Amino acid sequence: MQQDDDSARAEATIEVEGLERIYPGGLRAVDGVDLAVSAGEIYGFLGPNGAGKSTTVRILTTLLRPTGGHARIAGYDVVKQASQVRRSIGVALQEAALDPLMTGRELLQLQGALHGIRRPESKLRAEELLERVDLVVAADRLLNTYSGGMRRRLDLAMALVHRPSVLFLDEPTTGLDPVSRSSLWTELRKLNDEGTTIFLTTQYLEEAEQLADRVGIIDHGKLVAEGTPQELGRLVGEPGLYVKLIDESKSDDARQLLAVHGAVSDRSAGGLTIRTALGARAIAPIVRTLDEAEIEVDAVEVEEPTLDDVFLAVTGHKAEEDSGEDAV
Ligand SMILES: Nc1ncnc2c1ncn2[C@@H]1O[C@H](COP(=O)(O)OP(=O)(O)OP(=O)(O)O)[C@@H](O)[C@H]1O
Ligand SMILES: [Mg+2]
Repeated sequence: MQQDDDSARAEATIEVEGLERIYPGGLRAVDGVDLAVSAGEIYGFLGPNGAGKSTTVRILTTLLRPTGGHARIAGYDVVKQASQVRRSIGVALQEAALDPLMTGRELLQLQGALHGIRRPESKLRAEELLERVDLVVAADRLLNTYSGGMRRRLDLAMALVHRPSVLFLDEPTTGLDPVSRSSLWTELRKLNDEGTTIFLTTQYLEEAEQLADRVGIIDHGKLVAEGTPQELGRLVGEPGLYVKLIDESKSDDARQLLAVHGAVSDRSAGGLTIRTALGARAIAPIVRTLDEAEIEVDAVEVEEPTLDDVFLAVTGHKAEEDSGEDAV
């Protein structure tokens, strides 16, 4: 792990104040965002399509100028000290335009050259990173033969070439299958254990839950909630228990009987949802109540809050609808 200068580390590694980006035409893509990420944290920036995630990342990584507010990374201002910022950060963007006719190894070495790393060292670094992201076997294949997961792993390796202390990842696992997704999560946790501060955007609450120490939810350019994943989950309210009956014609009876355990609502997929502070501990009493009335239970499951639930709780609207001009 490298040692950065302490003065830069004393404050938050990522400091954002009143950040704003108004696009021509007046769209407020980022509308007064304040946040701070400490060294060694994984911060998840969660939001639906068009929320302003990529715009924020592009500003923080010096690729786009803010129209208002300030941001400092590792102590450096993203506008006034852009080159120092660039040296401190690694970036994997949502739409990386990589030459499909180059190999993974060539791209990594090119990236090293762009960072001013000398050839012999850059070669070694490429080997090390290929191993790290498990691309040794595919290293000499052209990029246009890579799967989505392999590309994402190469994006990550490229972001790491110059050993940055802060890593920005824009939707690193969107479109990946569950296995590729969880192996990328493992890699990111490892990097974080080694001291890398990580800022990642995602549309998946589960990803934020799995990875992030803290999560900020962005909607229409504004930070609408922030906290640990547990704190955000609680914003949804009491946990839900989903009860499916074998005989759905009994659901009216069941609804009345179960009201003693919590607020009961119908589910479109059939079955009932009971909200209770007891969470999973209410499963046994619920099953007993139904048993006594000879209503047979097919399944009882704890309902994990989804991004949609959290969204609905903090914004009053669903994540997919009403996202500015992206809405159809
Ligand atoms: N260059 C641009 N000019 C004008 N409007 C833009 C530009 N880039 C993005 N926008 C708009 O700004 C808003 C925020 O876009 P942004 O790409 O930051 O969202 P996002 O949260 O990254 O979405 P996604 O999940 O789809 O990647 C959207 O309404 C988008 O249409
Ligand atoms: Mg985006």
